[in-house]
Amino acid sequence: MNKKSWREDLFAGSELEVLELVCERLKFEVIEEILEGGSAARVWLANDSAGDRFAVKIVVATPGVVDGHDIDSFRLKVTQIDSIRTKAPKLGETYLPILYNVEGENWACQITPYFESTDQAAPLRQPGGEDVFFRNYARFVDDLLVKGYGVETAAPPPDYLERIVIGRFLRRIPMLESAFPEALAADNMVINGHFCIAPKILLPHLLRQTAHPDMSPVRLGLCAHGDANTRNVLCGIETEFRLIDPRGSTEFWDPVYDLAKSLFCLTVWDPALRLGFNICSSARGETPDYAVSFQRPLYAGYKRAIEEFLPFLAQQAGVQEMMQGDACWKSRLLLTHDLHVLAEAPCRLSDRKPKFGADGALSTPEDLALGFYLLGTLFINELARQLESGDELDAVRHLSFIGL
Ligand SMILES: Nc1ncnc2c1ncn2[C@@H]1O[C@H](COP(=O)(O)OP(=O)(O)OP(=O)(O)O)[C@@H](O)[C@H]1O
Ligand SMILES: [Mg+2]
Repeated sequence: MNKKSWREDLFAGSELEVLELVCERLKFEVIEEILEGGSAARVWLANDSAGDRFAVKIVVATPGVVDGHDIDSFRLKVTQIDSIRTKAPKLGETYLPILYNVEGENWACQITPYFESTDQAAPLRQPGGEDVFFRNYARFVDDLLVKGYGVETAAPPPDYLERIVIGRFLRRIPMLESAFPEALAADNMVINGHFCIAPKILLPHLLRQTAHPDMSPVRLGLCAHGDANTRNVLCGIETEFRLIDPRGSTEFWDPVYDLAKSLFCLTVWDPALRLGFNICSSARGETPDYAVSFQRPLYAGYKRAIEEFLPFLAQQAGVQEMMQGDACWKSRLLLTHDLHVLAEAPCRLSDRKPKFGADGALSTPEDLALGFYLLGTLFINELARQLESGDELDAVRHLSFIGL
């Protein structure tokens, strides 16, 4: 399907101005705003005069948003999907096509056909949904790794962990510092009764720890997605699924990054956005003391899927093939998971859509950001302690110790 691309002269003051212009050009009628996403973008459901439905996604350039939520990476999503369709055509077929790509000086709009679906984690919010989740997830992993990442591989650069995994959070710290100067100034803190070292101090140390054993990937692959959160995998009525919203990168990429993203969606991302956090703070002398939890206990299905996640992955043929000779992939997955939790904190500050907690009240971007920062700090401290001991990482202990 050929996409239609064109430019408009409008310098947009808001997404609504763009929406009005684009809908007028295409004779679309807006039905409602879709609030599921978590980026700086806004998305609307619209239909045309024939009654066909579309998702209209708009990003207006805003200064100070995290890398990945900026207009340049939004524009690059089109390039990435085109590249996947050329190099990995079988996986390319599972991407919803961008039918219209409209560009302005300070904005861009991408329109996909609307696909009736649920998010990838939806079965886990129903009793006994783990079988359905893992059956669907097996197909997703196979498509993503065998038909995607595996079609082109390359040796990783020597600074891969430093630049992509750990550096991603370190680069985003200034955004958090302006939102929570006090929490970020502390070198140590107590979180849920555990003494923790602040990530800004711990992460450079962790980088040295991960060099022995070398946790770097053995090989990178085609960036088959790069932001495979559970809401970017749209599951249809049968077992078919459609991918949307890749990272906006054509660099070679570690598939573990996307697998860790799925796990992170189950442990923290999706429950935080659906349930909200309760956060209390006090100070023991100089050391800030926080208690953080979800407003309601984690869904039982998510808990079970988290426990089974790594053993399940290890049995998948696609994973075995892609991770051949990569002895540390599971440890790297846990490290990447923990960094996803931390790196999500500044992302919360640039989300434009309202999020509500289990109590029905608005979860502010600042509350969500602080919750991710605190849980990420807890996780990364536990990982550093396990690495310090020199034993093989205990994934079950790592993922269950925060007791959510
Ligand atoms: N074509 C589509 N068909 C059905 N639902 C869609 C479609 N496009 C987007 N959505 C819904 O809108 C949500 C947000 O869209 P999208 O992922 O593009 O935005 P985002 O804010 O960038 O998300 P993210 O949190 O991944 O950064 C999706 O999770 C999905 O629920
Ligand atoms: Mg998305």
